Amino acid sequence: MKKIRKAIIPAAGLGTRFLPATKTVPKEMLTIVDAPIIFYVVEEAVKSGIEDIVLIAGRGKHAIEDFFDTSYELEDRLLKDGKTEILERLENIRNMANIISIRQKQALGLGHAVWCGKKIIGNEPFAVLLGDEITVKTQQQISLTQQLVDGFAQTGRSSLGVLNVEDSLVSKYGIAEVSNSTPKFIIGSNQERFSYYNASKLLEKPKASETNSRWAITGRYVLTAKIFEILENQKPTKNNEIQLTDALDQLISLEGIDVYPSNSLRYDAGDKIGYLQANIEFALRNPELNEELKNYVIKLAQSLTKGTFS
Ligand code: G1P
Repeated sequence: MKKIRKAIIPAAGLGTRFLPATKTVPKEMLTIVDAPIIFYVVEEAVKSGIEDIVLIAGRGKHAIEDFFDTSYELEDRLLKDGKTEILERLENIRNMANIISIRQKQALGLGHAVWCGKKIIGNEPFAVLLGDEITVKTQQQISLTQQLVDGFAQTGRSSLGVLNVEDSLVSKYGIAEVSNSTPKFIIGSNQERFSYYNASKLLEKPKASETNSRWAITGRYVLTAKIFEILENQKPTKNNEIQLTDALDQLISLEGIDVYPSNSLRYDAGDKIGYLQANIEFALRNPELNEELKNYVIKLAQSLTKGTFS
């Protein structure tokens, strides 16, 4: 079975939900504690065995490229000042992965963004990680990307991560309908047991009344190169965009698709609330900030419950 060595990270969205901040800074460069969102996404890919990252970027892509590149002046200054800890951290980021960046010249949708990576990916299976979603794994868990990579090693089928959502959120996501009511199981590379279903239909942002499924597609996929052939002829649909979900729906009848409920916490960091939550939760997990922030959050929560916050 082919190993997953490459990943596409689409990061070309306009970030309109974060204006005015995203007027000059790509949303993937907004900070979670002390690193940009894109850092956490690349880190998840690398920890799942991915070596080459194909970044599909739009406006402001230089900021993302520069983040993963050397900054001679800065590193020289840090060296002279003896700031070895942060220097080492910067070196690690720079050596994390081989980042190849491609410009998506027109914002034609997620399906088109993935298709832009075709030349670099070639005929290999690959992962897709949406550049504005971050996942946190608690101590024993593996990341969703690792789950999908492990799943692919055993089934050889394309797969996607899902999470169960309430009715009111159905129209915000791609929705996966599944054919088996009881899940199948896989034992992952760290011996963790996780479940999966077989997809029967995929719908992009349907109304809650249009489907019985509540499995929302998260921003993590492992795909075979067959998807490029389908995307090549894919017509725009929802929002006049070429939708990845439509192409995946066609892939079901050709090769089958597995659907993995996510075990990890997930934040849509491209959304204001998701972004704020991610910052608080990441900071609470950071040993340097944990104590002080925890005390602050407790005090704040007390004043909110007492109604004294104004
Ligand atoms: C995209 C996909 C959608 C998926 C979602 C996950 O939508 O088109 O199928 O459920 O990401 O975040 P977007 O959020 O870019 O509108």
